[in-house]
Order: sequence, then structure tokens, then C-alpha cells
Amino acid sequence: MAQWLRHLAGTGVTHLPKVDVPKPSRVLGKPRPSLVVAETVAASESVSPATTDVVASRAPIRPKAVTPVTEMKNPSSVLGSDHSAKAAMQAGPFPETKAVMEAVYTDLESRRDALSKLAKCVAGCQRCPELASRRTQTVFGVGNPSADIMFIGEAPGAEEDAKGEPFVGPAGQLLNKIVEASQLKREDLYICNILRCRPPGNRNPLPEEASHCREFLDAQIHVVQPKYIICWGTVAAQNLLNETQAVGKLRGKLFDYRGIKVMCTYHPSYLLRNPAAKKQVWEDMKFFMKHLGVELQ
Ligand code: URA
Repeated sequence: MAQWLRHLAGTGVTHLPKVDVPKPSRVLGKPRPSLVVAETVAASESVSPATTDVVASRAPIRPKAVTPVTEMKNPSSVLGSDHSAKAAMQAGPFPETKAVMEAVYTDLESRRDALSKLAKCVAGCQRCPELASRRTQTVFGVGNPSADIMFIGEAPGAEEDAKGEPFVGPAGQLLNKIVEASQLKREDLYICNILRCRPPGNRNPLPEEASHCREFLDAQIHVVQPKYIICWGTVAAQNLLNETQAVGKLRGKLFDYRGIKVMCTYHPSYLLRNPAAKKQVWEDMKFFMKHLGVELQ
């Protein structure tokens, strides 16, 4: 190097330009698979004005194009100034979820075992400091580890936080009625949420919280490998499908998510505030059950 610099000086070069060499970076995020609208029901497109107002007022959770964190010019603009959250993102997935994602599950026992390992990992998760410091416990998921149908909600509320089980509060009671009326059984389903910790005051999950929790959702889907998913509400629908439209625009269709058929409908909490929208959810359930060969009246 010294010899080369002497040579340059000898040729009259006294200053070298500063060059920024990009550092190699690990890819932490992976692009979402593209979505294919599998089928459409013309009859169930109607959305009441009240419905549209309320749903549209909820902030979109995930931008349409997800940029892997390592490709962002300024990750702190997305993650805020919270260093531990940033560190968590940079640390990549937990070894437990990585191991679960690498295995293939064909029987009930191995699925149960994998879910229980994941639940333990979730219970110790500190990626969202605000949520982790306030939770009574994490709310992982419940139900049949080999379920054909998975329900995905938004996040635990007060009752779920207290009990450690999803959909056990007032919204859960209404969900149970919908399940029963649809000739389904809660114990046959697998039920989880976008978040595994309760957001304070039941506010909407923040994008970085949903992103921290995503590997757990992906792992749960990978283990259970349902044939169908129902997304309850805008938060679940937008996050799972990487959509920006409100649920009112996403209902009445079946989406394909990694080979799984996905239907989106209104969240039971929304129905508690807007009972008129129950009619649309019933239309959605009739449409959904028809795919399973069940005609609901
Ligand atoms: N709302 C949700 O989205 N999930 C729950 O578990 C409870 C209420």
C-alpha cells in the first residue's frame, strides 16, 4: 500500500476521493408471495356507508410493497428510536421459529410439539418493549394443531390478556355464535392473532409490532397447514395478505396465500359496534361454507 501511494505521489496524485463501500447485509425480510384472487362473489359486494366509514378510518397496517429492512436507507425511520426493537429486527428470526420452519409436519403429535416450542419462545419474546412490559401473558393461539380452518384476528384484548387465550371476551362470544351458526366447532379450528400481546387500550397494532410477530404467525401457519384461513377484520386481512384496502373491499372473494384459500370478513368487535354488518358476515360465512360443501340457510 505504502509503495503504491509513493508511486501515485510520484505521478502527481496527492488526493484520493473518499469512496463509501457498501457493507454486505443479511436479508431479514422476505418478499411476500403475490396474491391471486381465486374467486369472486358478485352477490356479496354491498357495503353499507357506515361500514365503509368506520373501516376506512383504520390506518393501513402494511404498505403494499414491503421493503426488506436491510434495503431501507434509514431503518430507524421505520422502527422509531427504540434501540431494542431495532436490534430485534437486525437479529433476524428466533432459532426456535427457524427450526420449526425448516421441518415438515404430517402428524398431530409433531404439530402439537412444534406449537408448544413456539409458544414457549413467544412467552419470552421482548421485541416490542411496550407490549412486553404491559402484558399479563402472551396469547399464542389455541385449537386443533391439524385444523383445516384457521382463524386470524387482530390482537388480544383485556380478557384474552388475562386468560392467555384468543377470542374469549365479548368479541369471542360473538365469534362463537358465528362458528356455531355456520355448523363449525370451535375445537376443530385453530385460532390466533396478528399480535400475541395486548396493545395498550386495544389500539391497532403498529406496523413494527406486526412485523416482529410475523415469524410466529408464519410458523403457526406452517405447522398447522390449514386449507382455509378466515381473516377477521382489516388488521388481519391487510397484514396477512399485504393489502392496503379495508376489509369491506376484500370480502366476497377468496385469496390464495401460499396455497391456502383465504377469506376476509368483518371483525366481531366491529359487529358489536355495528350490528347491521352482521348480515354481510353471514353472507360471507354462507359463501365460505359453500366451498366446504355446506349450504347454510
Ligand atoms: N380480538 C381479536 O382480534 N383477537 C382476540 O383474540 C380478541 C379480540
